[in-house]
Order: sequence, then C-alpha cells, then structure tokens
Amino acid sequence: MHDSPVERILLSEGAIRDRVAELGAAVSRDYAGRELVMLAVLRGAAIFAADLSRAVATPHLLDFVGLESYGHATHSSGRVRLTTAMPEHAAQRHVLIVEDIFDSGRTLSWLIRELQPLAPLSVEVCTLLVKDRSRAERGVRVRYEGFHIPDEFVVGYGLDFAQRYRHLPYIGVLRRDLRDQ
Ligand code: IMP
Ligand code: MG
Repeated sequence: MHDSPVERILLSEGAIRDRVAELGAAVSRDYAGRELVMLAVLRGAAIFAADLSRAVATPHLLDFVGLESYGHATHSSGRVRLTTAMPEHAAQRHVLIVEDIFDSGRTLSWLIRELQPLAPLSVEVCTLLVKDRSRAERGVRVRYEGFHIPDEFVVGYGLDFAQRYRHLPYIGVLRRDLRDQ
C-alpha cells in the first residue's frame, strides 16, 4: 500500500458500518422508553458517535465531553483532564459513554468518577474497540464493544496519532516509520 499511512487495515469501512448497525440495534432495544444521553468522548469517539447515534432508533440526547490524556505519546499517561464543561445533561438521565478504544481503562474510570456528582440514573460504556491485552481495570465495565483488536497502535475512523489520520474511513495499524518521526 504505497502512500498509505497504515501498514495493514484491520477493519474495513464496511465491517465498521455493519458492526455499528448491530450496536445501534442493541442500544435501541436496551434503552427503549428511557431517558438516554449518549456522551461521546472527544475527540477520538466523534466519528463513531455520529454514526452510532444515527443507528439508535430510540430518542436520545447526544453530548460530548473533552478529555485529554495522551498528548503525542502512544500510550496512556494516566493523567486526565476535562477540556470542556461538565455534561449537565447527564443529570437524572441514563448515560451511555461512547468511546473509541478501551486500552488501560484509565480514561473511562476517571470520567465515570467525575460524573457521579451529577447523579445520573445509570452509567454504561460503549466502546468501538477493545485491545486484546486490556483488562477491566479499576472496575470499569464495558457493556457494548465493537471489536477486539491486537495490541497495536491503530488510527482511522476518529483515532489519531498526534491529531492526524482521524479522517481515514477504515481502521489500520499505523506504519512504524510514521510513529517514530
Ligand atoms: P486508556 O485510558 O488507556 O484506556 O486509553 C484510552 C484512550 O487512549 C483512547 O480513548 C484513545 O484516545 C487513546 N488510545 C489508546 N490506544 C490507542 C490507539 O491504538 N490509537 C489511537 N489512540 C489510542
Ligand atoms: Mg479517546
């Protein structure tokens, strides 16, 4: 794949589309008749959330929360901060956190803790990707997951490396020479 930023494609555009439709159907079923807010984590989950929201038939709010934990590194620093206002819509609603990838679980465990003062009716997690070596660290339970992927650094469909490659319609393993620059 000359000129491609990935050394191999893990999930094609079509595979992602089909799986998002399945996840949307499951969420629609589980949240029928409940006040749901889908809370997507910026910036990585923005594209997934846009597609998932349209695959969820039951009425819901779509909100976003900005979290920063990565900088330019390719592994979690464990330090998280909110870059947007608190998601007030979470109060008195069922919250479904929408995340791009579950790796160490640190980011999500931090967010779930921050939401508690808003008194959400429930908090669940929907992540598009789970890395194979991931463990449900610190009690984070993932209710919906799209795909298990090998423990490699991936980009595309919202996932970035130093803010690049989010626009790719597929998910692939970033070329090593691009990571090392
Ligand atoms: P965690 O806190 O270790 O679970 O890290 C989760 C966050 O790290 C995700 O929301 C992503 O933003 C980022 N991340 C983890 N693995 C990758 C990857 O392979 N590619 C791009 N971003 C990643
Ligand atoms: Mg993220």
